[in-house]
Amino acid sequence: MSSNDTVSKTLVVATLLCIICSVVVSSSAVLLRAKQAENKDLDRKRNILAAAGLLTEGRSIEELFARIEVKLVDFASGDYLQEGVNPQGYDQRKAAKDSAQNTLLSSQEDIASIKQRANIGVVYLAKNEQGELQSIILPVHGYGLWSTLYGFLALEKDAKTVAGLGFYEHAETPGLGGEVDNPVWKAQWSGKKLYNAQGQPDIKLYKGKVTDQIPQSEHKFDSLSGATITTRGVQNLLEFWVGDRGFGPYLKKLQSEGV
Ligand SMILES: Cc1cc2nc3c(=O)[nH]c(=O)nc-3n(C[C@H](O)[C@H](O)[C@H](O)COP(=O)(O)O)c2cc1C
Repeated sequence: MSSNDTVSKTLVVATLLCIICSVVVSSSAVLLRAKQAENKDLDRKRNILAAAGLLTEGRSIEELFARIEVKLVDFASGDYLQEGVNPQGYDQRKAAKDSAQNTLLSSQEDIASIKQRANIGVVYLAKNEQGELQSIILPVHGYGLWSTLYGFLALEKDAKTVAGLGFYEHAETPGLGGEVDNPVWKAQWSGKKLYNAQGQPDIKLYKGKVTDQIPQSEHKFDSLSGATITTRGVQNLLEFWVGDRGFGPYLKKLQSEGV
């Protein structure tokens, strides 16, 4: 037995190794925190741009996002918040979980199964080169089959026609509910109408392929085959977020008064 093969020396080496590893892991976590936050923010911006179809090859996310104005909206009145909270630093998802900043939804109101909603919402106004409003992008979320789907709904400047829809977080089954991420399914959204003639939310899943021959096709979208529950979740979350307890009051104002 060599002089190094002792229980005490083995324990010393193992302890030192543990200490060194934990120092390396914790310092990388601390050092990379800023980078992680930066990447998370970049990803959020990319998802917002993607929902509105504004991602352009060869141009950076920051450059494209510079044409987006971030504003806060009071859900109850539908008015922009003029002061008090900085839109850049506001986190609607966090606020929805804070009892001082949220509203609990009754079972009749909670069609998207989200339990509570922040009192203040974020809206992203995409402008064209001339600085005119091009589209309005809204954060939306609601329950599917296994998970809450988080995404962005982009509307044309009329505030009632869909420009695009995309989800950036969910845990639905790949190949079934996960097909909400399929570009072919997502492509159908552009041009869909969210409200009926009476101004009520009217966007419904259709079991099969929606063609122009189907009556009211602009208010219908393809159900995902074998994933009706997730698709119904999408219908419910859209109805909620464009309805009276979601961005409805704000969108009604935009429709009648403009930005
Ligand atoms: C393992 C497994 C995973 C499933 N994942 C989903 C899902 O992500 N979304 C969904 O709507 N249905 C999912 N389903 C199917 C649902 O239970 C249900 O049958 C389906 O939503 C009904 O849609 P259909 O009427 O188009 O068949 C899953 C079923 C199984 C067995």
